[in-house]
Amino acid sequence: MYNFDGMIGQLKQNPKSIVFTEGPDPRILDAASRLLKDDFLKPILLGNKEEIEAVAKENGYDITGAVIIDPANYDKMDEMVDCLCELRKKKGMTPEEARKTLAKSNYFGTMLVKMGVADCLLGGATYSTADTVRPALQIIKTKPENTIVSSCFILVRPAKDGNGNEILALADCAINLYPNEDQLVEICGETVKCGKIFGMDPKVAFLSYSTLGSGKGEDVDKMRNATAKAKEKYPELPIEGELQFDAAYCPEVGQLKAKGSKVAGYANTFIFPDINAGNIGYKLSQRLGGFDAYGPILLGLNAPINDLSRGCNGDEVYSMAIITAAQA
Ligand SMILES: CC(C)(COP(=O)(O)OP(=O)(O)OC[C@H]1O[C@@H](n2cnc3c(N)ncnc32)[C@H](O)[C@@H]1OP(=O)(O)O)[C@@H](O)C(=O)NCCC(=O)NCCS
Repeated sequence: MYNFDGMIGQLKQNPKSIVFTEGPDPRILDAASRLLKDDFLKPILLGNKEEIEAVAKENGYDITGAVIIDPANYDKMDEMVDCLCELRKKKGMTPEEARKTLAKSNYFGTMLVKMGVADCLLGGATYSTADTVRPALQIIKTKPENTIVSSCFILVRPAKDGNGNEILALADCAINLYPNEDQLVEICGETVKCGKIFGMDPKVAFLSYSTLGSGKGEDVDKMRNATAKAKEKYPELPIEGELQFDAAYCPEVGQLKAKGSKVAGYANTFIFPDINAGNIGYKLSQRLGGFDAYGPILLGLNAPINDLSRGCNGDEVYSMAIITAAQA
């Protein structure tokens, strides 16, 4: 199962806690009730205790033992306000503004991770991507060795030969609108790391409408230059570009258009030129190609925070919770 057993095995050795910002949502409670039966990931539900317990009971989810924290009634709120003011000092945040901000569970939950109360966070069942990601960017921030936070989707479907699963990684489909060459290189490195959590053996294609000079244009140059920089930075990785998608994915086209390349036709990790291409690309794969899509998985943050699709179901929340904790 695309290494979910491996992720769970690791978590069993080193259990984590995860904040769910939308505690009263039935899909969250479905996942939380399943996690509570296991012993590797402790759910922390944000919201009003009575409301959460009522929704759980109404939907038949047993959440006995869940930690519930109500931002409206948190005993360490003063400490959290001070901490947020300090973090946002340069932006001139006042205690009044901090208190108002922390009434929102996306900011409150992110501060729980920042203050070490929880290891990671999953939100977005009702919030937009931007509203889940923004507190993470402002509070958790980019890892010291990174310059940006980016994202990838992991796509999974049964392999055509009936042998296990086909697993692909696509980036950046959700955060950076127009990444430059250096940012594309960073996105490549982070996506490869994430793919490895899923047991992937990465072969990276930098995608374009051109294959090795067949087309001309600024965007082609960007992808070709990014490929050269990525090859220099990660000499151990199989990387090719710029490639059209068919040359990257289909062996017969890859070997016709990029003869002798070890990647062309066999790529499983795709770096897109911008968010338009990436976002459309992953949705085409999901809807036309029958792949299950996991993500956006945020990359390059100081602590794992991930975003759910608003159309998610309880199974997806459960899987994303495990993926998020596995990044911790
Ligand atoms: C991610 C996103 C929400 C940030 O937007 P924003 O809030 O307008 O960003 P701002 O420029 O105001 O920046 C807010 C903070 O985040 C930081 N930031 C913004 N983008 C960042 C990035 N890619 N990496 C790291 N930090 C980033 C800024 O430096 C700023 O920090 P500061 O407040 O400490 O100075 C925006 O890039 C976005 O909307 N992306 C597309 C999301 C989307 O719709 N995806 C498709 C659906 S899946």
